[in-house]
Amino acid sequence: MDLRFDGKTIIVTGGGSGIGAATAHELADSGATVIVADVNAAHAEAVAADIAARGGKAHAVAVDVARPESVQAMVAFAVDRTGALHGIVNNAGIGGPIAPTASYDPEAWQKVIDINLSGVFYGMRYAIPEIEKAGGGAVVNVASILGSVGFAGSVAYVSAKHGVLGATRNAALEHAAAGVRVNAVGPGFILTPMVSGALDEATLKFLEGKHALNRIGRPEEVAALIVFLLSDRASFITGSYHLVDGGYTAQ
Ligand code: NAI
Repeated sequence: MDLRFDGKTIIVTGGGSGIGAATAHELADSGATVIVADVNAAHAEAVAADIAARGGKAHAVAVDVARPESVQAMVAFAVDRTGALHGIVNNAGIGGPIAPTASYDPEAWQKVIDINLSGVFYGMRYAIPEIEKAGGGAVVNVASILGSVGFAGSVAYVSAKHGVLGATRNAALEHAAAGVRVNAVGPGFILTPMVSGALDEATLKFLEGKHALNRIGRPEEVAALIVFLLSDRASFITGSYHLVDGGYTAQ
């Protein structure tokens, strides 16, 4: 299947690492101009430089998705540099601490909600008007399997990801008439710095077994779904949640 994005500009938040970096590469390989946006400016710049070295088009920008004015500036940067915006992947996220609800630190709760849920809202809030101006396009919000099931010790993350699904459905209903499709993806456990940095070998082995395919996923396997949902080949898909979880939630 030929998925092309020639002449299109797509923002990827959290594009400096893991799933976001894989998505930025896949989009650039498909002809898009990618705005690689990350709170870690050095990582965003490294990904944009890698894309350019492979002959692709990318610009790096620093953003903190938890701050609306920063997200607004990121969108303005994209339009300024390339003339129009056709899509956004609201992917930036953090895991947060592991603790039961009854002892979960309220400040940590707020931080996870600010980045993982409010960050997705701000991304849609500021990008959708520009996507509409460009004549339509697509939004992909990166949720998780934990957007539809719980995971003991992760109340803030699980709540934020459930919230992302609601925000996705609402935005899809509101902006369909203007030609903006909005979908969410639900990855299972994927080997990225978020997971390898937080979990030891034994926990990773245990988690492998929770997937029917008996392994952890790769960032490229999520990027493939995100890029399909962004593309015109997904023209009848909106307001829905798409798992890429190796069978985790099948059991
Ligand atoms: P990662 O840690 O490799 O990448 C996340 C990126 O987001 C980093 O570059 C980080 O600097 C950036 N970021 C963090 N806070 C930010 C902020 N306030 N503003 C802008 N950028 C910020 O993690 P990974 O695994 O690639 O995660 C990407 C998304 O996928 C997240 O939303 C995560 O919740 C989701 N996800 C990850 C899964 C996994 O097993 N790795 C499973 C399901 C969902």
